[in-house]
Amino acid sequence: MTNSRGLAGIIVDETKISSTKNAHLIYAGYPIEEIAQASFEEVVFLLWHTRLPNKHELTAFRQNLVEQMVLPAETIRLLLYIAKEPQHPMSILRTTTSLLGTTNDVEHDEPPKILAKMLTAIAAIIRIRDNEPLLEADHHLGVVDNFLLMMTGKKPSQQLSRMFSTVMILHADHEFNASTFTARVAASTLTDYYSCLTAAVCALKGPLHGGANERVFEMLETIKQQQIDPIVYLQDQLHAKRKIMGFGHRIYKNGDPRAVILKKIAAELAQETDNQVYFQIQTQIADYMLEKFKLHPNVDYYTALIYHCLGLQKETFTMIFAACRTVGWLAHIMEQRQENVLIRPCSAYVGPTGRHYSKGAGEI
Ligand code: SDX
Repeated sequence: MTNSRGLAGIIVDETKISSTKNAHLIYAGYPIEEIAQASFEEVVFLLWHTRLPNKHELTAFRQNLVEQMVLPAETIRLLLYIAKEPQHPMSILRTTTSLLGTTNDVEHDEPPKILAKMLTAIAAIIRIRDNEPLLEADHHLGVVDNFLLMMTGKKPSQQLSRMFSTVMILHADHEFNASTFTARVAASTLTDYYSCLTAAVCALKGPLHGGANERVFEMLETIKQQQIDPIVYLQDQLHAKRKIMGFGHRIYKNGDPRAVILKKIAAELAQETDNQVYFQIQTQIADYMLEKFKLHPNVDYYTALIYHCLGLQKETFTMIFAACRTVGWLAHIMEQRQENVLIRPCSAYVGPTGRHYSKGAGEI
């Protein structure tokens, strides 16, 4: 058996974008605890250029992003058709990302335009599924406020805007996670940005990755609605050999630093929106998982409650992760392209050998 299954612990390339070394998350040298206080646009610029923008650059960058938060008419026409389908919103986003590559200029579009289109498309999918009219970006607001406005129909308070900026920043990048690595593999073949992003969305959708946040809320809802003791619920799930969603991490064995910040935001929002009961269940679950299995919550655990407090449907939670992570995907596609080497590992063949084929005879 090869010891590199799942590529665990294998360094496959270098990056200047982010690091999780020694379980400390840094974005281009800045600790996540500090950079989470920056504006979202500053962090996007940082991840794409590995330096912070000056005042003039930041204003121009923000203006460009907001101006691009509009979809071509043919994209909207097709979105109105596909977004209401019964498929999971992440399946709709997968098709939409691919669609953006056919209704925009696939050869010449640059990351700011692509990010703006992704955010706008995700907000549009949510509005269409809620039977609400699509909203235009307000050019007086920044990217985060516009994203919230175009999703929920409400201009966020300063406090909510700050909290959601932090959430978006914390999700923006995480070195070679599965979806980012998928994007890099695609980029290494020199395919276009939209194709790389479509591949990344497919990888993020899975429950072991971004799909976990929706399942976390499913668990909380089941416990609340059926009035089950959270510990009994956990014991049943573990007995049935099911993973508890929102716990564990390939890199962080002693806790995900993002979850520490997200827990505070979840507590505050739960209090304000009268969702404390969910937060109490979460705390009970987290205490038990730590005490019994030394397993800590990951980035998907508290975000589930945060998104619920914002009034979002649980099926859309992973799309919000995708919206934030598009920043990191684009950063890594750019980096991969800069000094590209085709990503093509080897496998250890363990199947049968020495067989011979004889037409019509089947196996001999
Ligand atoms: C994300 O990689 C990234 O950076 C991802 C991410 C990002 O920002 O991009 O951080 C985002 O994807 C967060 C993870 C979301 N997924 C979940 O919450 C799903 C539940 N968690 C797991 O299935 C698991 O912990 C993973 C997938 C996150 C990590 O898997 P690993 O590294 O392959 O670890 P493992 O499954 O081998 O676990 C080691 C042990 C096992 O026990 P043993 O077989 O050694 O006895 O811990 C147990 C596991 O069974 N375990 C769990 C568990 N997580 C680990 N047991 C129950 N519930 C869990 N959640």
